[in-house]
Amino acid sequence: MAKAKVFVTRVIPEAGLAKVVDQCNAEIWPDPQPPPRDVLMEKIAGCEGLLSTLNDPVDEELMERAPMLRVISNFAVGFNNIDVAVATARGLPVTNTPGVLTETTADLAWTLLMAVARNIVPADQYMRGRRFRLWGPSLFVGADISRGGDGQPKTLGIVGFGRIGQAVYRRSRGFEMRVLAYDPPLQDLITKTEGIEYAEMDRLLEESDFVTIHTVLDDSTRHLFNAETFERMKSTAYLVNTARGPIVDEKALVAALRNKKIAGAALDVFEDEPEMAAGMAELDNVVVVPHIASASRDTRNRMATMCAENAVALLNREKAPNCVNPEVYDTEAYRRRIAG
Ligand code: GLV
Repeated sequence: MAKAKVFVTRVIPEAGLAKVVDQCNAEIWPDPQPPPRDVLMEKIAGCEGLLSTLNDPVDEELMERAPMLRVISNFAVGFNNIDVAVATARGLPVTNTPGVLTETTADLAWTLLMAVARNIVPADQYMRGRRFRLWGPSLFVGADISRGGDGQPKTLGIVGFGRIGQAVYRRSRGFEMRVLAYDPPLQDLITKTEGIEYAEMDRLLEESDFVTIHTVLDDSTRHLFNAETFERMKSTAYLVNTARGPIVDEKALVAALRNKKIAGAALDVFEDEPEMAAGMAELDNVVVVPHIASASRDTRNRMATMCAENAVALLNREKAPNCVNPEVYDTEAYRRRIAG
């Protein structure tokens, strides 16, 4: 039987790529940058599988071009680059890579939190610039993470208590912090979890010394952080975002940081990647990194393996281990697609 034709939009780690190359008739886009839209539109025609990344918008127009497509396997846990509702209506399973990047992402959230609170980036630049003369009482003084000057625990506010929010919480236990979390569908879980308190968004903003974002991006969370929310936060508080850029109104964040409405921010994700809002790069109270939360060798290998396994299962007309729209399996459109 002829192998299924698959387009892979980036060179993902060999751990997964080898399986796809072995089991499919795969074309791999070789450039470090994602394929331009017109190229993707051309490549997808006639494909039975697509291995996409979060840089590839997979919308109705693209799906329309691929009547033979049987899987969209995203190399990411997030899938806001894909119009899942349209995919479901068209009988197309969409898969992602949950779980394997949870701890790695939580590690980065803590790395960023600590880096911004303790001025790690400017201190590093100072050393490299050979400006260090002598230890100084006020050289790069930052904020404590565990306890305040009054001896009271600092408060960590977690927005989104899914897998990654929970992993961030587990790490906070070592810092003996007070923890608040906001996530309406998971209110019960939060309430039952030891050492954490459910808080509505306003209280979380008003009481937290560190606010860390771990919610999905959808219509209800787009610009959840905006000029008004920054007004509510403590002027000594820090914001950390390792979720999705558009959850934060980046222009409003720059203004809040410039006007010292909040003390600092550490960002892995941006509203309009790879761009940053004007003025961000000039601020000294921010740490910015290029969307690397899941970027450890082991995690990227596991993501690649999972991404390949999801694709191959569906191409073999089996259910995928990580389907984000499993209701698709019961649709007539799906049955037609796999019969075709
Ligand atoms: C990265 O942002 C992911 O969703 O995996």
